[in-house]
Amino acid sequence: PEDLLCSYKGVLYPVTHCSAETFKALESFEARSDDVLLVGYPKTGTNWIVHILRDLVTTSAKKNEEEMKRMKQDEEIVEYTYLEFGDPGKFQRIKKLSSRRVFATHVFPHMLPTSIFKNNVKILMVIRNPKDIAVSYFHFSNSIPSLPSFKTWDEFFNAFLNGKVSWGSYFDHIIEWNKHFDDENIMFITYEELKENSNLGVKKIAEFFGFSVTNEESQAVADRNSFQTMKENSHKTHGAFGNVLFRKGSVSDWKNLFTEAQNQEMDKKFEESLAGTKLGAKIKYGVYCK
Ligand code: A3P
Repeated sequence: PEDLLCSYKGVLYPVTHCSAETFKALESFEARSDDVLLVGYPKTGTNWIVHILRDLVTTSAKKNEEEMKRMKQDEEIVEYTYLEFGDPGKFQRIKKLSSRRVFATHVFPHMLPTSIFKNNVKILMVIRNPKDIAVSYFHFSNSIPSLPSFKTWDEFFNAFLNGKVSWGSYFDHIIEWNKHFDDENIMFITYEELKENSNLGVKKIAEFFGFSVTNEESQAVADRNSFQTMKENSHKTHGAFGNVLFRKGSVSDWKNLFTEAQNQEMDKKFEESLAGTKLGAKIKYGVYCK
């Protein structure tokens, strides 16, 4: 299973999606100041928010393309959207995309091109309870061929806690992004708050990026991208991958897998590494929700 992953600058990535060549090409990628960038560790809900962002772009541009057209575009979405995915030549093709372009990434901030920070690209960062991320990531890893599978949950739990999974440690990811906590061009949202009140979350996101949408429009964006709707459409948008990606979409599913010892171990890890950071303090429903 090790040959499914490659290590780049000390962090693991799936070889089917990432390569040293693409990481190198990414370094000189020229971001535009009106680019829309989503940052989130795997399984924080990045696909969901990418869809919200793309919907906001079309809604505010008053294009209102038909559902089918939107879905067709989705077939190309993965290659273009996740900055570190695909072949190094993709950055030439991305240049041709019209504004506003929507990108996402799972990487640490130092892996991103300096143009993103120089050009003041607005960054939305999504965070999620690490316990739910771990459970989601475990099921995901065991469902797709591009990631190594794990014989037991216990085995995955230890790998996750020690950052021996693709894109490295979630705890390090938060620590590194916490350094950008006070940047002017960054906004943070939790998976849990977006889930609890999607219309409000969509409104906040729209306002941050300067999309003008009415209350009805933001509600429509939230509804079109609800878990139920996305799951129902997923055979068209994501094929067989849909069932894997849109698994449960709920909060606190960790309770179904964690043992009490694992719960305490992750609480300890959280306390030691994240609880004292501003970003860590924003992770709701983590240690404090039992
Ligand atoms: P679960 O495995 O807990 O269900 P990512 O897109 O970053 O890989 O994150 C995937 C997680 O987001 C999965 O979590 C998935 O079900 C959830 N998700 C996807 N679309 C969603 C939506 N529209 N609303 C809520 N959660 C969603």
